[in-house]
Parts: sequence; C-alpha cells; structure tokens
Amino acid sequence: MRHLVVPTSVAIFAAILGLEAIGCSTPGDDPGPALPVDPAAIYAQMCARCHGLDGRGDPELKKTMPVRDFSDPVFQTKGTSEDAARTIMAGRNQMPAFGGLLSPPKIQSLSGFVRRLGRAAPGGRRPADPLPLPRP
Ligand code: HEC
Repeated sequence: MRHLVVPTSVAIFAAILGLEAIGCSTPGDDPGPALPVDPAAIYAQMCARCHGLDGRGDPELKKTMPVRDFSDPVFQTKGTSEDAARTIMAGRNQMPAFGGLLSPPKIQSLSGFVRRLGRAAPGGRRPADPLPLPRP
C-alpha cells in the first residue's frame, strides 16, 4: 500500500525542518534523544503574535485585548514564575491555555523566559538588573 510510506517521509521532513524543537513531534517514530527546551523559539512561534517579540504586547492586539506587558513593574515584582506558569498552562480570560500543547518543562521554561524578557524590554530594563536580551 502506497500510503504506508507516508509517515516515514513525513517524519524525515519534520526532522529536516527541525519541527521537533518547537514541540511538533511526529507520532509513531522515535524522535531520538530529547532536544533541549528553547523557550525563545517557542515564544516566537506561539506567544509573540500577542505579546510581541519584546514582550511588551503587540501594538495592534493591545487595542482589542488587555495583553500583559511583561516589562510592567507589577508583573515583574508581584508575579512569580509559578503564577506565570499557571496562566500559560490554564489560560486566563483572553489568554489561551497552552497546557494541552506544551509539556510542563516547556511551560516552566517559558514562565522564566517571559520574566527575563520583560526585564530586558526597552524601557523595562532596570539599572540594578542588567540582563542582556535573549539572543535568537
Ligand atoms: C491570543 C493572544 C495571546 C497569546 C497567543 C498568548 N497570550 Fe499570554 N496573555 C494574553 C492576554 C490577553 C493576557 C492577559 C490575560 C488577563 O489577565 O486578562 C495574557 C497573559 C499572560 C500571562 C500572565 C501575565 C500576568 O498578568 O501575570 C503570561 C505569563 C502569558 N500571557 C504568557 C504567554 C505565553 C508564554 C504565551 C505563549 C505560549 C502566550 N502568553 C500566548 C494573550 C495571549
């Protein structure tokens, strides 16, 4: 049967594109050793369209929903990475839930990433806390 060949070629194609790095593992075939979680890549893929690449919120989207500005001092001082992880997993109001899409380690690393991103955002950097921008 011809269609039996398809999953293998799809898996190879996905591997070439590096799709496993962003969580689109292919069913069936062993994807090999686990790749390190890259929160910057996941963020760019799944979060930046709303939160903006710099974490300050997409300017257009901010007109229609209260996208969190990650450089907001309230988020930086009052929020914890645990709070962030909970919101990413379960969603909140117009923030979609990602618990079904991302594994707990990925959510964990994203929760730390958005806080670092907020500190590094233009206008969000504090002299006492000079974190460099995460490099792609
Ligand atoms: C469809 C647009 C959208 C996408 C996509 C999105 N968010 Fe959000 N996010 C929001 C909105 C809107 C809020 C504010 C929710 C509220 O409190 O009303 C929010 C809130 C949050 C918060 C909570 C901030 C706080 O106030 O404590 C975190 C953390 C967060 N988002 C992270 C992420 C991450 C990480 C991703 C990608 C995996 C993501 N978001 C994808 C729209 C989005």
